Amino acid sequence: MGRFQKFILLPLFLTALLPGLGFCYSVIEGPTNATVLAGSEARFNCTVSLDWVILIWLSNGSPVLTVTSAQGAIGPSDRFTSQNYTSSNGVTLELIIHNTQLSDSGKIECSIQQFGESRFAFLSVQVNGSLFIKNSTLTVKENQTVEIACEALGWAPAPDITWMRNDSFIDKSSYVTQESQGSNGLHNALSILTLTPTDTEILTCLADIEALPDPQNATVAVIFDNSAIENDYSEDNKNTWVVVLAVVLSFLGIVLLIVIIAVIVRYCCLKKKGSAYQDEIRKVSAEKKKAGDLENRQRHGSENQGYIPEERWNTEEISGISSLPPMSSKFTVPAADLHTSSVPKVRPQRRTEYLLSPKKIRNVTLV
Ligand SMILES: *[C@@H]1O[C@H](CO)[C@@H](O)[C@H](O)[C@H]1NC(C)=O
Ligand SMILES: *[C@@H]1O[C@H](CO)[C@@H](O)[C@H](O)[C@H]1NC(C)=O
Ligand SMILES: *[C@@H]1O[C@H](CO)[C@@H](O)[C@H](O)[C@H]1NC(C)=O
Ligand SMILES: *[C@@H]1O[C@H](CO)[C@@H](O)[C@H](O)[C@H]1NC(C)=O
Ligand SMILES: *[C@@H]1O[C@H](CO)[C@@H](O)[C@H](O)[C@H]1NC(C)=O
Ligand SMILES: *[C@@H]1O[C@H](CO)[C@@H](O)[C@H](O)[C@H]1NC(C)=O
Ligand SMILES: *[C@@H]1O[C@H](CO)[C@@H](O)[C@H](O)[C@H]1NC(C)=O
Repeated sequence: MGRFQKFILLPLFLTALLPGLGFCYSVIEGPTNATVLAGSEARFNCTVSLDWVILIWLSNGSPVLTVTSAQGAIGPSDRFTSQNYTSSNGVTLELIIHNTQLSDSGKIECSIQQFGESRFAFLSVQVNGSLFIKNSTLTVKENQTVEIACEALGWAPAPDITWMRNDSFIDKSSYVTQESQGSNGLHNALSILTLTPTDTEILTCLADIEALPDPQNATVAVIFDNSAIENDYSEDNKNTWVVVLAVVLSFLGIVLLIVIIAVIVRYCCLKKKGSAYQDEIRKVSAEKKKAGDLENRQRHGSENQGYIPEERWNTEEISGISSLPPMSSKFTVPAADLHTSSVPKVRPQRRTEYLLSPKKIRNVTLV
């Protein structure tokens, strides 16, 4: 017969047998509440009269250990063992739960199977989680308000969080603690302390649960630095200046580069087109001389509205002509200018350019 079968059958057998045999023992003292850390052991006492025969321990209603005066203890799991202490008053039977788990929490009952007599207590298995302050050492300036975060992870139940500055507790109104349920029935807490230091101090965050002999703690040093005000300021200023200078210099460099490129490009183009362009200019000035009108000559001599650079003309003609509205509706150049402008006479098809954008073709050439 297996150990487990024996364990199940024995109480049944004895339960049926004992009242018939007329045993009349009783529980003198029951167990008391216990709170332990997960992984450690929990102990419960049940004291019975000297003529005891059998005692059954139940955890949340399930039998976990059966102890008989004749055969000792039998249980389904090695985690549950028993110890006996005999005195003149009676026998104290101690249940030891090894390597406690969260699921062991609950009702622990000792039953003597006599007239349904039993006593019970409660076991609370707690978990000592982790605690840390997220910020490392902080340096604060005068009138600077800082928020310091302390995080507790993986606790059962959620720990009580308190704060200390140097050696005195901080008022609860200075911090806010939020609790959240993590996985596996564990709890997390995040406490945020808001303070405006006036001196260098050690801040301590404490997390407490009943099972811990002392609260767990985490600390951070807050260094109050008066001199830091000017130093940081001047250093910041220096850095800012360096950055500004670098930006300005690089910007100037880019502008200079663009100007140089523009000058080179312009110089090259002028050289290429120079001869053809100058022919045209000469024709224009010849006609103007014929007209002999001093006013007109001054105006058109200084502002040649008909001039268009060669390449722009070519591309704009192709794309622009198809979408051109009737000439008359959009013609904005004054009539007098058109009459006296000599360019259309030289190249009549260029008139279309006026419609595209008169502003674009206001290139100034000095003759
Ligand atoms: C034992 O624990 C239970 C549940 O936590 C509680 O109701 C009871 O008052 C406790 N008994 C003693 C004596 O502390
Ligand atoms: C149980 O009783 C024994 C003997 O009196 C004692 O040594 C032991 O500490 C008790 N255990 C508990 C959990 O009270
Ligand atoms: C609780 O956990 C902390 C951090 O892991 C550890 O330093 C401390 O010793 C533990 N306390 C107990 C009572 O086990
Ligand atoms: C800090 O606050 C006090 C009172 O408001 C003020 O007198 C002092 O000049 C402040 N210091 C700085 C560095 O801003
Ligand atoms: C401290 O850490 C928390 C969380 O990381 C952050 O929100 C807070 O701003 C930090 N406080 C300071 C003064 O750096
Ligand atoms: C806290 O302690 C530090 C040194 O441990 C000390 O310099 C500082 O003055 C103390 N602050 C307060 C407010 O007592
Ligand atoms: C913080 O915990 C350590 C041991 O982990 C202990 O020596 C120290 O006294 C504790 N500090 C406070 C303020 O409780």
